Amino acid sequence: MIQVKQVNHTFLIGKKGKEKKVPVLKGLSFDVKQGEIVAIVGKSGSGKSTLLHTIAGFMSPEQGSITVNGQETANLNETERAAFRLNNFGFIFQNFQLMPGLTAFENVELPLKLKGISPKKRKASVGQMMDKVGLTEVGDHYPNELSGGQQQRVSIARALITNPPILFADEPTGSLDSETEQDILLLIQNLNKTLGVTFVMITHDEEVASIAHRTFKMRDGELVKEDVL
Ligand SMILES: Nc1ncnc2c1ncn2[C@@H]1O[C@H](COP(=O)(O)OP(=O)(O)O)[C@@H](O)[C@H]1O
Ligand SMILES: [Mg+2]
Repeated sequence: MIQVKQVNHTFLIGKKGKEKKVPVLKGLSFDVKQGEIVAIVGKSGSGKSTLLHTIAGFMSPEQGSITVNGQETANLNETERAAFRLNNFGFIFQNFQLMPGLTAFENVELPLKLKGISPKKRKASVGQMMDKVGLTEVGDHYPNELSGGQQQRVSIARALITNPPILFADEPTGSLDSETEQDILLLIQNLNKTLGVTFVMITHDEEVASIAHRTFKMRDGELVKEDVL
């Protein structure tokens, strides 16, 4: 589903004229199979988020190739890449990034609205999705009326409402207490099994990595270890 081949990336850091080259991704190669949960672990600054941004096509690596669903993303122009992201990827973040002025239901509905789906179809799909993630009771609550765990459920539902085959999660439980973290991890496992969604999770938390089928460890821009569950 995802092939990363010999990816290198360097950032230029510092004042103009005196920039320093800092290699952040160093010859990374790995693949992610359809239906897998993969965790990328490593200390802060090891290059995890940069790797995710390159796979998701928010930035192009200096060297190497990334192929998703048979498509080499570097070969797409800006507009094509945005469309490719929309059709293939869902994203969830540590801080949820919900729209504060929309209810839980409306947040989940938004991607369908943007896609021009009719209100009747939207209502049916969102209703089903809210059920799957256990939010039926709180659909009319605003984000600030929800617990952290509930907010992450809303963001997961919103990410999956358009049926993307791949979901990226950058520290998905980073701002949750350990009990709520377990709830969210169970939900991710359940969605992986029932919907077949491929999950690529970035984390420095061993609990999170424990649900992955495979774990890649990064250190200073390199993959140093692969663990299979
Ligand atoms: N846009 C950028 N410009 C310059 N340096 C960056 C940029 N983004 C990240 N870095 C540097 O790249 C390294 C890896 O960062 P990052 O990928 O965010 O690591 P992680 O997610 O593992 O904490 C860090 O040293 C960071 O300072
Ligand atoms: Mg990061």
